[in-house]
Amino acid sequence: MNIKKVHCLTFSPTGTTRKITDTIAGVFQTKIYNHDITYDRTKDIPDFTSTDLLVVGVPVYGGRIPALLEDFFCRLHGDHTLCIPVVVYGNRAFEDALLELSDLLKDQGFVIAGAGAFIGEHSYGNEIAGGRPNGSDLAAATKFAETLRIKLDGIATADDLEPLHFPGNHPYKERSAPGIPWAPATTDSCNNCGICATVCPMGIIDRDDPKKITDPGSCLHCCACVKTCPKNAKVMESEFYKKFRGFLIANCSEIQKNPEIFV
Ligand SMILES: Cc1cc2nc3c(=O)[nH]c(=O)nc-3n(C[C@H](O)[C@H](O)[C@H](O)COP(=O)(O)O)c2cc1C
Ligand code: SF4
Ligand code: SF4
Repeated sequence: MNIKKVHCLTFSPTGTTRKITDTIAGVFQTKIYNHDITYDRTKDIPDFTSTDLLVVGVPVYGGRIPALLEDFFCRLHGDHTLCIPVVVYGNRAFEDALLELSDLLKDQGFVIAGAGAFIGEHSYGNEIAGGRPNGSDLAAATKFAETLRIKLDGIATADDLEPLHFPGNHPYKERSAPGIPWAPATTDSCNNCGICATVCPMGIIDRDDPKKITDPGSCLHCCACVKTCPKNAKVMESEFYKKFRGFLIANCSEIQKNPEIFV
């Protein structure tokens, strides 16, 4: 099948998902149209055609896709458009996320060519899958995309593809209840450089006074601000965060999981 355009659509607050989607899209050796929805999910994305290929990547949040993306995906339109859904998770589990992402895309007119679950350094700290995706993860992503390229060369249209099946359950795992809003605190080491405000996907760190979170209830707890601050001045003080981080270090840091691909 002759693919004319490859589109790469990624949400990636701490950058691990982007490494995987960039690697996969790069294998198709054609001009790549990047749609980064980390910071802006309001812009119009053009409808996709039957000669496009869409690579979509999101991190796993609580075994699901990030809740704020559900509406965005419902605004996409494919026309029997080939698509490669990818989820990236922090070495705990991806649960229903890949199934959910694939379901959403199929509902919008996309045909799943192949899909993958990859591992990225956990947002909650580099003790959990630190440095991933590493060289061997990126090699696995490259091999996955090469396998798909050969598979797609052998078909005439997207409708020739057999349906793929993914792990996960219907109904999907329930999202946890919102609870009391919490967001990072800022220590006295802050020098007001403003970097954290530029990397916040929700735009809730005040650009004039980066110690101030304008809407704590919208915080994703994505840790982009915490990981990017050059002074280590953004800190998560919530008891829930500390407890869960302890759980992850105790249970998900020793055994390193491997990418899982579906072709
Ligand atoms: C709110 C939140 C929930 C998360 N839930 C999970 C999860 O259910 N399973 C898991 O293995 N990792 C989980 N993670 C870790 C991320 O999926 C992982 O670090 C991913 O690589 C982050 O992607 P990014 O670098 O593109 O932001 C969670 C992270 C956050 C911030
Ligand atoms: S990145 Fe760190 S030092 Fe810079 S403004 Fe934000 S909290 Fe302060
Ligand atoms: S304030 Fe919240 S949403 Fe914004 S970067 Fe920090 S953790 Fe992420």
